[in-house]
Amino acid sequence: MDQFNYRNGELFCESVPVARIAEAVGTPTFIYSAATFRDHYTRLAAAFAELDPIICYSVKSCGNLHILRLLAELGAGMDVVSGGELFRASRAGFSRSGPYDPGKIVFAGVGKTDAEINEAIDAGIGWFNIESEAELANLIRIARERDMGGRKGEAPVRAALRVNPDVDPKTHRHTATGKRESKFGVDLERARSVFAEFGRNSLVRLTGFHLHIGSPVMNLDAYVEAITKTLALIADLRQDGFTIDTLDIGGGFRADYEGPGSPSYADYAAKIVPLLHGQGLRIILEPGRTISANAGILLARTTFVKHSGDKEFVIVDGSMTELIRPALYDAYHFVWPARPGVGFVPDPRGKDIRFPGTKLVDVVGPVCESGDFLAKERALPPIKRGDLIAVFTAGAYGFVMASHYNARPNAAEVLVDGETFRVIRRRENYADLVAAEE
Ligand code: LLP
Repeated sequence: MDQFNYRNGELFCESVPVARIAEAVGTPTFIYSAATFRDHYTRLAAAFAELDPIICYSVKSCGNLHILRLLAELGAGMDVVSGGELFRASRAGFSRSGPYDPGKIVFAGVGKTDAEINEAIDAGIGWFNIESEAELANLIRIARERDMGGRKGEAPVRAALRVNPDVDPKTHRHTATGKRESKFGVDLERARSVFAEFGRNSLVRLTGFHLHIGSPVMNLDAYVEAITKTLALIADLRQDGFTIDTLDIGGGFRADYEGPGSPSYADYAAKIVPLLHGQGLRIILEPGRTISANAGILLARTTFVKHSGDKEFVIVDGSMTELIRPALYDAYHFVWPARPGVGFVPDPRGKDIRFPGTKLVDVVGPVCESGDFLAKERALPPIKRGDLIAVFTAGAYGFVMASHYNARPNAAEVLVDGETFRVIRRRENYADLVAAEE
């Protein structure tokens, strides 16, 4: 699952007690485990090895430069959705003159601007994942203008059309994307007319498909259904003489939010690999949370314990400005003290663990919103002012969704590797809050 474990009654990230990091760096702080990142990437790559896929890590899930470099070293490409994420990838070393191949970048998103498209062509990315006819027509226009503008001989831009296979991934309504009426991609029928119109363009080579049905998707049959429908479309188009050489099956794989027990990479691969083997397709994966979620925690310190009516509130210095998932999706994150006291060590962690002597509490932040909570109605061991509280599975869609609401400087990020740790993003200060205004 990950490398956050209780030893001698105390929470460690790999071989470092998290309390030591809090002493050195303060709180709230995101703590990541390098070994967990490596382990997830390597296992995923091994499970899908038969397909020899390009694994484009989803930068949006956790985009710190040091994390991008760690994964690039293992062979990952990058999945980006904005000029800013493309900039992050190039700063991490994905550039024509850098150590990593920008041809392993895929660029998705329903609203790419002309500036972003030009930046991506300049950078030499691998594929544009196209979400609509209008976007494709615009991309072709830009490629033509570049061609006419004396940049003749540029390699043709490669594109993959994002389709909605109309499957229900049975995930949160905000993170389901593969239904027919989604804002992403085009439906399968429309895909045929897009190929009829644009499939033979020489400046933009439309030779791929892209899928992403939602996240997290624990229902493996949703992938089978989506891929099977897309393969049928690919077969038809090939019969009509179109070249289709690439299929990007998106992300959305498992993370252990509630404890161990979600499907393994081998389970996903057992369903997906046989469908794609021998199809003459270059396969791309876009995993984000499955790599990053369990690789990080948010560590916060208890400011006060307060009683209001029958309720007990544990007020910590982390909040919805660091981790908005509970407020936004009612998402479950396992929360537990870093030093829970004798008799309260959760091993293994899990939503359903029960200990005598716990109390039902809400763990909340200091932000002026009633929606500012990290955990509700949780049975936790006795907690007092000063205690460190860990919010688990916070590596994905944590720091990247942070805000400055209530003028809160962004948290620090720390990367642990074995027995050592280093700050990979310093804590912001008050001057950072107003820097762009002065
Ligand atoms: N590919 C595409 C086209 C996507 O839209 C996404 C996620 C991914 C890959 C990566 O999905 P993953 O493997 O990380 O599940 N903020 C929400 C999640 C939004 C996901 C957006 N797209 C959350 O906190 O749950």
